[in-house]
Amino acid sequence: MTTLYTGIGELVTNDPGLGDGSPLGVVTDGALIVDDDRIAWVGQRAHAPAADIRVDLDGASVIPGFVDSHAHLVFAGDRSAEFAARMSGQPYRAGGITTTVAATRAADDATLTRGLAKLTAELVRGGVTTFEIKSGYGLTVAEEARALRLARAFTTETTYLGAHVVPPEFADDRAAYVDLVVGPMLDACAPLARWIDVFCDRGAFDVDETRTIVAAGMDAGLVPRLHAGQLEPGDGIRLAVDVGAASVDHCTHATDDDIEALAAGTTVATLLPGAEFCTRAPWPDARRFLDAGVTVALATDCNPGSSYTSSMAFCIAVAVRDMFFTPAQALWSATAGGAAALRRDDIGMLAVGRRADFAVLEAPSYVHLAYRPGVPLVRDVIRSGRLVPS
Ligand code: NIG
Ligand code: FE
Repeated sequence: MTTLYTGIGELVTNDPGLGDGSPLGVVTDGALIVDDDRIAWVGQRAHAPAADIRVDLDGASVIPGFVDSHAHLVFAGDRSAEFAARMSGQPYRAGGITTTVAATRAADDATLTRGLAKLTAELVRGGVTTFEIKSGYGLTVAEEARALRLARAFTTETTYLGAHVVPPEFADDRAAYVDLVVGPMLDACAPLARWIDVFCDRGAFDVDETRTIVAAGMDAGLVPRLHAGQLEPGDGIRLAVDVGAASVDHCTHATDDDIEALAAGTTVATLLPGAEFCTRAPWPDARRFLDAGVTVALATDCNPGSSYTSSMAFCIAVAVRDMFFTPAQALWSATAGGAAALRRDDIGMLAVGRRADFAVLEAPSYVHLAYRPGVPLVRDVIRSGRLVPS
């Protein structure tokens, strides 16, 4: 059964070989044919072949589904008081993570799954068609494995983040915690994850600890993606490039040397505007990365401490307003950039053979995502060829 979506005023394909020839490959007066879960045809409405069913989108714009490559969704508890304190002048500290760890350990599976279902539904409703989920609020062998097991019911993109912070019970013996992370915890978690992540920053793990954990994870078949440069400059970004990490995330305090290393390597830099917003941190200037030729992704970093948003549209608006992405760059980074950060070539682009993952916007142009901040513009979401019920 094939479906022809027609009447697309502005169709963003991310295929530079189509439409206006820009990186977004914008086709005006476009059409798409979906066959089962894949795109079967893309182009201008005037040239569209016939299909079994026809859906007229009445001049709406269509964009590839957002790819959220960084989210922490397995948790319990609430840290709104910590947010309020920050907005009254307190600084953000990595140590706040332990508040969520205590609440998460105390929660049963059903509670954690309810939270996952709620947040993933928010993501999808907002146009996200692929998302990553990290562990990291359990920090015991059983709890980290539980988080990944629960997350796998929602995504194949699961990330082992046993090295989020050193939990309080290991405060006097960090080395013993690192041994646990690279030993029994890795053994339990590697079969449940695709990626390994480490929070390499002030108050979390130093670069030597990070190197040790990443090496063990890679030996176990996991691919690294790191948190680095969020709270202060350091060696984490260059380490990510050296080990061939898929992505290095935050990069708030990236130095010129870091950016040079990123430009020469294969690691995507993932910027997380929600984290700067919710921690009142300085904005990284995306132009430094983009002008150097670095591949840049945008992600929500949805988590209860530093970025409690599930809205990619919000992240795009902030990225444009405060991080100096152009609207086109921000959309590319939130779609094709996220796909690159997850090393996925089946998503992030609307081209023949790719997954039929797209969002229909109640707007004549994708530019409205930044131009109309805070307005829910995603009218419909098609995921693997199927309309997501609203
Ligand atoms: O990406 N930076 C480390 N981890 C999260 C924060 C988690 C938390 O504060 O609970 C982040 O910002
Ligand atoms: Fe994070």
